[in-house]
Formats: sequence, C-alpha cells, structure tokens
Amino acid sequence: MKNTIQSWRNKFYTSLGAVYTESEAKSIWRILMEDGLQKDQLSEQEFTNDEQKSILKYTSELLELRPVQYVVGKALFMERYFQVEESVLIPRPETEELVRHIISVEPTSSKRVLDIGTGSACIALSLKNHFQNWQITAIDYSEAALELAKENAKEHAQQIDFRWVDFLDESQWNGLGSFDIIVSNPPYIAANEASLMQDHVLAYEPKMALFPVGNDPLIFYKKIKEFAKTNLKQEGSIYVELNEFNAQEVQALFASEAFTVSQLKKDFQNKDRMLCVKK
Ligand SMILES: C[S@@+](CC[C@H](N)C(=O)[O-])C[C@H]1O[C@@H](n2cnc3c(N)ncnc32)[C@H](O)[C@@H]1O
Repeated sequence: MKNTIQSWRNKFYTSLGAVYTESEAKSIWRILMEDGLQKDQLSEQEFTNDEQKSILKYTSELLELRPVQYVVGKALFMERYFQVEESVLIPRPETEELVRHIISVEPTSSKRVLDIGTGSACIALSLKNHFQNWQITAIDYSEAALELAKENAKEHAQQIDFRWVDFLDESQWNGLGSFDIIVSNPPYIAANEASLMQDHVLAYEPKMALFPVGNDPLIFYKKIKEFAKTNLKQEGSIYVELNEFNAQEVQALFASEAFTVSQLKKDFQNKDRMLCVKK
C-alpha cells in the first residue's frame, strides 16, 4: 500500500466524511499537516511509521468530535501559536478582533493592564508581544489554565504577572492594584443557550470558561464595572468581549455613573461582540 501524504489524505477524507463536511475535513487536514506534523500537505513524500500512527490517533479522536486544536495541542492566534488543552478555551477569531482593535487605538506609551479570565493567555500575550513596555497582570480562577498560560508565556519569551484569583469574590481584589486598561473575554453564555451550542464545544471546552456561575450572564460585567470604579485609573479604558444576545444590556450597564464613552462594535459575522468603555 502506498503511504504518500496524498493517499493518506484521501483515506482521511473518507473516514471523516461520517461526521464532518468535505470543507471541514479539508481544513482539519491542513491543520493536522501544518500544526500537528509540520508537513507540506501538497508534498509527494511518504509518512514515516510514527507519522502514520499519529494520523490514526488523530482520526479516532476527531471522530469522537474532539476539536482539532486540542488534538494537535495548539491553536493559532494573532499569527502566533498557543498551547491549548481541555483546561482552556480554544482562542476564537472574534477575540483576535478585540486584540486588533486595542492595538489599533491604544498609543504605545507604557500602561498597566489587567486581563480578567486569561485562559491560554492569548489576549495578554498578544498585547505584550505588540506592546513590549506594557506591564500585564493576567488572572484566572482555573489553576490548570494558569499553568498552561505560564507555559505559553515561556514559549513567547514574555513576562506576565499571572495570579490565581476568583474575580467574582471582591475580597480577592485587594492587592491587584490600579490599571490603565482592563480587558476581558469573560464567561458569558447563559445556561439556557447551551442547547444552541455545538456538541463538541459542550463536550470538550471548559464549562468554567463558557458559563458564568449562578446563571447571571451579566455577572462578570457587573463585577468589572464595580472593580473599575476603584481600580481603573481616570481616563482608563475597558475592552470586553460580549454575547450578541445581551450586548445592549452590557452597554446600558456601563452607560452610567463613572463611565463616559462606550462603543459597541460588531464582529466579522456582523454580531455585536465588543464593548469599549472610557472612565
Ligand atoms: C471565555 S474564557 C476566555 C479565555 C481567554 N481569555 C480567551 O479569550 O480565549 C473565560 C476565562 O475566565 C476564567 N474564569 C471563569 N471564572 C472565573 C473567575 N471567577 N475568576 C477569574 N477567572 C475566571 C475561565 O477559567 C476562562 O479561562
């Protein structure tokens, strides 16, 4: 039997056809080749025995709907790789848009920044990769996520002040200090939206990253607002990712008291996805 990349690719498409569309199978194959095996997918080379074993393992995990980023253990975000495993959310393109927006509007002057719910540290590290002089504190309540975030910081050769904090517990805000920028992609999915979500997200991605405890989808935004009253410097900025279903409510929450300007922005799918607030 021929072991060329092309012949394995055809077998792979046939196997995955049971659960994935043709275009999904093609994009998954590209990720397996580029990110998993570092192979040129158009090459006429043969796979080694170890590579063949890897492809078989990848295929069986994919057939169980494990997301390809967890299968290969990494995800591309802002043109850089981040290690991912089931303890962290797979970084999303919508979140890249949040980071790109911050990069496009913030001057390069030195800033103190807090990333709430850092997960893989994709936001914190992408900002640090761009703004080398920013001092970034990144918090999460998942110890496993923080361990992985630290690994990513090592791989990116960047210093981030990682802290294990339950942000919903106000008594843990002591000692965090004051910031010029607060950024967050918090858990924002209401429990009753779970039925609308794809099976593989529910089965593999961390519940703590998706659903806020207590079933109040606004809880993180309420806490961020309270925190910002005392811990965001005057003229500081807040950038949060949000759910298109309650974007107006989040905007209304901030359009009061201490906060002056707020701008709702849409994502590439034309859904309300990001709020920018100024103090
Ligand atoms: C939607 S994920 C975002 C992860 C990452 N920032 C990203 O954009 O891909 C939300 C993160 O918030 C963390 N988290 C959940 N509850 C928390 C809490 N009470 N305090 C701090 N972090 C929390 C989760 O562990 C998860 O990493």
